[in-house]
Amino acid sequence: MTGRSRLDLYQVRCVRIGTGIIAQCAQDCADSGASRVLVVTSAPIAGLADGLCEALRGLSIEPHIWLGPDGEPTRKDVSDAIATAVTISADFVIGIGGGSALDVAKLVTALAGSPQTFDEVVGIDQLAGRRLPLACIPTTAGTGSEVTPISVIEDEEAQLKKGVVSRHLVPDFAYLDASLTVSKPRKVTASTGIDALTHCIEAYANKYSHPVVDNWALEGIRLIAANLEKACNEPGNLAAREAMLLASHLGGMCLGPVNTAAVHALAYPLGGEFHVPHGVANSLLLPHVLRFNAETVPQRYATIAHALGCPATGDDQADAQAGIAEIERMSAAVGIDRRLSDVGISSNALPGMAAAAITVQRLLKNNPREVTEQDALRIYEAAL
Ligand SMILES: [Fe+2]
Repeated sequence: MTGRSRLDLYQVRCVRIGTGIIAQCAQDCADSGASRVLVVTSAPIAGLADGLCEALRGLSIEPHIWLGPDGEPTRKDVSDAIATAVTISADFVIGIGGGSALDVAKLVTALAGSPQTFDEVVGIDQLAGRRLPLACIPTTAGTGSEVTPISVIEDEEAQLKKGVVSRHLVPDFAYLDASLTVSKPRKVTASTGIDALTHCIEAYANKYSHPVVDNWALEGIRLIAANLEKACNEPGNLAAREAMLLASHLGGMCLGPVNTAAVHALAYPLGGEFHVPHGVANSLLLPHVLRFNAETVPQRYATIAHALGCPATGDDQADAQAGIAEIERMSAAVGIDRRLSDVGISSNALPGMAAAAITVQRLLKNNPREVTEQDALRIYEAAL
């Protein structure tokens, strides 16, 4: 690991954790001087936003709900949400939902009334600033979007996901309320949980890993190892749900300063081209990328294995392989799709996917082992 000599941290001003803590959000809006709030959410969880809107009205704040798609948000969704914020003259934005809703909410706060267009801000540090305060309330434990400086949006024309990375996207308030996640189906709990695990693993075994971030990553891995299966098997287990939300948050904290690597880069074409949900795409590729990486940095992967609960044998390579086997066992136990063919991808699509993945240098540059287009193809073949 090369290690970074400095750690750029742009943190959420206020993180509130606890069952029922969402109730505090309306008061935080009022204390911030809000009078017209845009609530960005998606159809299946609109009911959750209703209670929040009632609380806002009780404090003389006018809420307006913008309902986004259930799946991954597109550029059109973002412009539509921005237009709504401008029309109602929103002075505060709340994102409530999975990573998709939060990613849209984040871009609305940066682009509503801004001369910058979405195309101008794609990439790293292109945003000129943020125009509205933002609160984020995750209802899945996975993306950690409530703490990250990142929004990922699908460019429907290019059939590619595009990332906006800027410190101006980090929310002001985040609420980790486990009661909002208990209704999530097992499949969503499983795949989003593996996404959070991937954030922690890719930040820890990263070319630019950082000792402070390492601790967050390892704690996230420990929490997921101890709670993912419990959260899937006992959906109403609030302690397991809260531990998963915390792990997701810790994973998100790793993304700003260090970020992910080849798993996420290779997952991009699965989302953009085949519309495979983000968490599922990552979980399909995770063990195969780790196998590719493990021989380069065995000590890092051995430490990950120990955080997953595998015993330390003194042989880093063996421990690293045991960790990968443990991830595969966990994925099977929570019923996640295991192969690219399970999500309808056939072998003739793989060369095109490898060509698309290799363009995601923003993340590939972080990978502990260099990934060529040929390597990417081999990894996809192993995952087929
Ligand atoms: Fe992710």
